[in-house]
Amino acid sequence: MSEKYRKKIYRRTALGAAVFLIVLALAACAPRMNRNAETDGSARQMTVIGFSQLGNESDWRIANTESMENTFTEEAGYELLTDDARQSQEKQIAAIRNFILREVDYIVLAPVVVSGWEEVLAEARDAGVPVIVMDRRVETEDDSLYTAWVGSDMEAEGDRAVRWLDEYLKEQGRDREEISIVHIQGSLNSSAQLGRTAGLDRGLAGHRNWKLAARECGEFTQAKAYEVMRDILKTTKEVDVVYCENDNEAFGVMQALGEAGLTYGKDGDVILISFDATEAGLTACMNGQINLNVECNPLHGPRVEKIISLLEEDGTPQKESYVEETVFEPDDLTEELIRERGY
Ligand code: AHR
Repeated sequence: MSEKYRKKIYRRTALGAAVFLIVLALAACAPRMNRNAETDGSARQMTVIGFSQLGNESDWRIANTESMENTFTEEAGYELLTDDARQSQEKQIAAIRNFILREVDYIVLAPVVVSGWEEVLAEARDAGVPVIVMDRRVETEDDSLYTAWVGSDMEAEGDRAVRWLDEYLKEQGRDREEISIVHIQGSLNSSAQLGRTAGLDRGLAGHRNWKLAARECGEFTQAKAYEVMRDILKTTKEVDVVYCENDNEAFGVMQALGEAGLTYGKDGDVILISFDATEAGLTACMNGQINLNVECNPLHGPRVEKIISLLEEDGTPQKESYVEETVFEPDDLTEELIRERGY
């Protein structure tokens, strides 16, 4: 046997042994799937859900995670394995692979961005694990890569905000004035950002007097939105509207506007538009600080559970389900109404 061939065999054997050891180590580290939970003395089958949550960036996201946790409980017959990817698609892909390895029954994916999912979704499909996509969307040429999607129509949300602004400016007799708009985007390449930005872009294209004064990414967080708005205000003095792509960004923008001595909201100089309609966002709207809050409902736990129950009974869920949503102005709101909404 030549030296070169011997080395090759040795390398292959070493590689094989290393892969085997890694698989063994992973299996040992992974908590065992608890498919048989002891409840009132009798063992019963649990349905195991691997949930890849994209992060923890906003009030909306926290409400969304809570909705999943409150739905997929042990009492209801589920074991929920939640992985927080902290805004990283790489981490979400690794979590999905881990769920496949652990042979979960279903994977629920709240994707951070729209693109780049084909490979890992094909792995899940080939392993026979149904994937339910929730909230934001994935873009794949082959839609058999996931079983179902449930979430919001983000473009329609953007269109609702633009329609409202158009009417509001008419009511104010400002529809011929030049309107300077600052746009704080959400995390780039997420369907929430793409949809809401598309809505505003259509509004800008349809109104010659609407001018885009600045556009920056606020990453759907209060801290980043504050930072970018504070910097924008160093150079942009005329601001009529700030279009924030979620409530947490609106809070950061309020802080920056306040520090710059600008008033905003119902009785202020700057019109503030926000998305989500979380409890804190609607409270700010009710108090007149936000002029319009466009609803984006995060309570997807029961909706995902409906899909999974249907699959458990060998049914075929609807491929795409949109949540019905509305918009709120200060005069629409009461404390009671906000409390009843549950997020
Ligand atoms: O995908 C939904 C968006 O993501 C919400 O508007 C935002 O608050 C969240 O972080």
